[in-house]
Amino acid sequence: MTATDLYARAQAVLRLNDTGEFTKPSPRQYPHQWNWDSAFIALGLAHFDLPRALVEIRSLLRAQWRDGMVPHIIYPNGASDYFPPPDFWQTENLPHAGNVPSSGLTQPPILSTIVRMIYKNSEFGVRNSESRILISELRTPNSEFPQLLAWHRWLHTARDVDGTGLPCLIHPWESGMDNSPLWADALDRITLRDLPPFKRRDTIHVATDERPLATDYERFVHLIDLGRRLRWEPRALLDQMPFLVQDVLFCAILHRADEDLRALAIELGEDTREIDDWLARTRAVFNARFWDDARGLYLDYDVRAQSPIRVNANATFAPLFAGLASKEQAARLVAEHFDNPREYAPAADSKYRLPSVAKNERGYSPRRYWCGPVWIQMNWIIAHGLRRYGYHAQADALVRDSLALVAQSGFREYFDPRDGSGCGATDFSWSAALTLDMLSY
Ligand code: DGY
Repeated sequence: MTATDLYARAQAVLRLNDTGEFTKPSPRQYPHQWNWDSAFIALGLAHFDLPRALVEIRSLLRAQWRDGMVPHIIYPNGASDYFPPPDFWQTENLPHAGNVPSSGLTQPPILSTIVRMIYKNSEFGVRNSESRILISELRTPNSEFPQLLAWHRWLHTARDVDGTGLPCLIHPWESGMDNSPLWADALDRITLRDLPPFKRRDTIHVATDERPLATDYERFVHLIDLGRRLRWEPRALLDQMPFLVQDVLFCAILHRADEDLRALAIELGEDTREIDDWLARTRAVFNARFWDDARGLYLDYDVRAQSPIRVNANATFAPLFAGLASKEQAARLVAEHFDNPREYAPAADSKYRLPSVAKNERGYSPRRYWCGPVWIQMNWIIAHGLRRYGYHAQADALVRDSLALVAQSGFREYFDPRDGSGCGATDFSWSAALTLDMLSY
């Protein structure tokens, strides 16, 4: 397939999933608005329809809670056959919630980075004149900047349990990596009590063996039930949720987003002192908290268990995206892990980069959602990180494999690293959006 054909097909997927105000991640499996999906989608849209990209960003921020949180699922179009439906979250009428029906959770805050990338048009192929319109809109009183700032502030304060400003996640869905083996031990410790009745709907459109296990879902629902009993009040959640982790991917994305928000602040003539403080605090604690020098890996931290989560998932490469690794740490990540055929590099047991979990991990499962398949947005994040440290050959390989996967199997949600076959939802928006982006460099 030619690059022109691929580009046209990617555009068609975004058009198919476009509701006018927001873009569904996929037509059947995810028929509402998701937080980081919308951000990636906006980047893809910006390549051919900048005004529509702006609408995507604004519709997401319109759902911001009064306390600053930007929720992970937004239901502007009411209920559907998706579980959980909007009323399951019991977020309506909370004094700190927003005006649009939503979940009570958040998701990786990549939005400021995307806004800045769209603004830095020269790198991303958006034409100059259009980009100037965007930046002039950013300067208006209703601009996105204060909303982005409020969200970052909420993450660094309302989710700060130890004074480091590293946000804690209260549910695996906040990481975006829902059923990763990263969470297995933390979820195993949860005792299920009074589980509310519920019916999973995610296996209507996707094969059961590509989705989380029933035991995972029970825990996902149990945690939602606890959150709603606590009225999604941040202090109570930090005190009482049995799942409480500091996640490498989430914290790295936030740090990179802080850098990008700072650049936007300078562009807009805003004070940067608060953002400077977040950046300095994260730099001061990140490596002490997450780096395991014996293994040469970044590991998540289980706050409730007070111990590192000793699972090798590809989120370990995310600190490169944020410039948080030293040159030596980056060299170890690449030589000992990225290029290691027992873990992530192609070998007899896998053809495509980058499995979401190292192939020699106990929980590795090449077709099951976040237990091993390749995800296009992880490849995109890690490729940017590798370039930041000068590993261009490795970054090129990730882009090449990503484009080969979508050309071979279509814009699927995730891909089996062994043969590149598609898994999960079809017509998946961020696979299409990031294809448009990757085709442009
Ligand atoms: C799902 O329904 O699987 C989503 O990932 C939750 O955010």
